[in-house]
Amino acid sequence: MTEPDFSKIETAGCPAGDAGRDMILRMNREHGPLRAWGFAHIPVGRSVLDVGCGAGAALRELAEQYPEAALTGCDISPLAIETATALNEDLVKSGRMRFLRCGVPDLPFGDGAFDTAFSVESLYFWPDQVAGLREIRRVLAPGGWFMTALEMVGGMMNARQRAIVEHLKMVCPTRGELRGLMLEAGFADVTVELEPERRWLCAAGRK
Ligand SMILES: C[S@@+](CC[C@H](N)C(=O)[O-])C[C@H]1O[C@@H](n2cnc3c(N)ncnc32)[C@H](O)[C@@H]1O
Repeated sequence: MTEPDFSKIETAGCPAGDAGRDMILRMNREHGPLRAWGFAHIPVGRSVLDVGCGAGAALRELAEQYPEAALTGCDISPLAIETATALNEDLVKSGRMRFLRCGVPDLPFGDGAFDTAFSVESLYFWPDQVAGLREIRRVLAPGGWFMTALEMVGGMMNARQRAIVEHLKMVCPTRGELRGLMLEAGFADVTVELEPERRWLCAAGRK
């Protein structure tokens, strides 16, 4: 196994500093296929929330695909919010997109504020995964969809991934555990799919 360079990912749970900036820009470039696979599992409505948005590439892509959608990104990292806002300055200025520094399990949005919510590669870092999912469900409108897409899957990681997870103290659910979390949070019509080649996990559910 090639030893992971932890200095590049040390702040993955709350990106900060030069290494954090490099990391979120890299994730903007490299998570495209994971994002696309995740979005194949849910319909996208007109009011969309990205939880743990990092540098905001997912919302940028949705802005192009869904010109009517109002897009909100939230993240606990000031650097992520600053970077996402700068990279999407045109859309932020036009009022179509906004980025707010906040996170689960305490979102500053009213009940039913969004009709779609998603989260890519973030759930591992949440302080309480069920509480986070419940909070996302709260801010979804009845019938609204949520999906989360994850590259690290409990029980299915290679040695390098396991070293990263251990070092960063990430909590990576198995497929069955993720299903249990979604159900415990109150989501209906829950599906949890495994991408067989790349071993990604995507959970989707409806309020
Ligand atoms: C690995 S990055 C993924 C960023 C982005 N979703 C992507 O795929 O490029 C994880 C992000 O989740 C954010 N995060 C961690 N805990 C969070 C929480 N409780 N609420 C919201 N965001 C959180 C981190 O600050 C970080 O930006």
